[in-house]
Amino acid sequence: MTTNLFTSLLFIALTAVAAWLTWKAIKARKTWVKIVGGIVGGLFTLIFATLTITGGMGVRAAYFPGADPAPDITVTGTPEQIARGEYIVNLSCIGCHSAVGADGNPTGEHPLSGGWNIAQAEGFGFVGDMVAENLTPGGKLANYSDGEIFRLLRTGINQEGDLAAFMALMPYRELSDADTEAIIAYLRTLDPVTQSAETGDRLSYIGGVMFALGMFGDASPGPASITAPPEGVSAEYGKYVATFADCRGCHGPDVTGVAPSTADPAGTPNPRPLVSELSQDEFFTMMRSGIKPDGQAFPETMPWEIAAGLTDNDLAALYTYLIATP
Ligand code: HEC
Ligand code: HEC
Repeated sequence: MTTNLFTSLLFIALTAVAAWLTWKAIKARKTWVKIVGGIVGGLFTLIFATLTITGGMGVRAAYFPGADPAPDITVTGTPEQIARGEYIVNLSCIGCHSAVGADGNPTGEHPLSGGWNIAQAEGFGFVGDMVAENLTPGGKLANYSDGEIFRLLRTGINQEGDLAAFMALMPYRELSDADTEAIIAYLRTLDPVTQSAETGDRLSYIGGVMFALGMFGDASPGPASITAPPEGVSAEYGKYVATFADCRGCHGPDVTGVAPSTADPAGTPNPRPLVSELSQDEFFTMMRSGIKPDGQAFPETMPWEIAAGLTDNDLAALYTYLIATP
């Protein structure tokens, strides 16, 4: 944060110096100094001013997001809540927050001790470090109130009032209040484990700028209160399944694929054409075996083992959603 604030101040100073030199050049007696100095100086002033403004936006978005206070809630932690939370966390959060293996990537296994530097691992390290948090009570969440975890999931704003940049882009802000509370209930039951890696964000200046310009996607907070659609085999509930089972996180908000971008250089395909050719049974087989009907296995980048944990009802709803018009 200090480095980024300092860089911002530096650009303000450079803008001022460039503007002053431009002014001096325009006031000069020699015509060629007026013209050349004016144009070159003006250009530099413009460049530094642009860097100052976008950089300022980045610093503001990352460190002063203007958070509403965390809601004052207490999660009871009933057995039903804990079971529901376990279901969602093991479908979703575990993909990034699980223990890290020797290759530096998440193992998809407990404990949820975090430590995966997703920015470095996924080829967008120039935005800085984004290290998945330790979600066990051995990490920073031990000192979070239930309301503070709720606010983090709904808005991406952490206890310090900073934006957890990656979490803010995830679709969890669309989870219902009940499911968000279920997640909190379950996280509180995990065995405490410590994590030696430094977790959280350390955004670079350019990362902050790109984030503020919306180049990684929409990071706007979710509404204060959300009720899930009625549970059942419907496209509407299927979309909700695609939210908590994370399909939307990778395949785009409408699960219609994502074009290659800075954050996802390879892009992610639209699964709908393939799924629409399948019967529900074939879809179930594919999602639970990891083998597509043409005999090809899903590559490692498609975490089917996690999605295989969906209940029959949820998988059927997902199928209904994926074969419907988005
Ligand atoms: C695609 C990867 C990914 C997934 C999936 C994911 N997270 Fe995260 N999470 C991160 C990263 C990276 C950070 C570090 C801060 C940041 O960049 O947002 C983080 C940080 C956090 C934090 C700490 C933020 C803070 O500073 O207070 C919490 C709490 C959290 N995640 C909870 C969850 C929960 C609960 C889920 C599942 C519902 C989940 N995450 C799913 C990547 C992920
Ligand atoms: C972590 C990111 C990620 C998540 C989460 C994810 N997918 Fe994928 N998925 C991919 C990638 C990447 C591919 C493409 C792999 C390839 O063939 O190169 C893919 C491929 C697919 C395909 C095959 C598409 C085709 O035409 O070959 C289907 C179907 C699919 N995903 C469905 C789903 C569903 C349903 C969910 C939610 C339960 C889901 N995915 C969650 C990343 C993800």
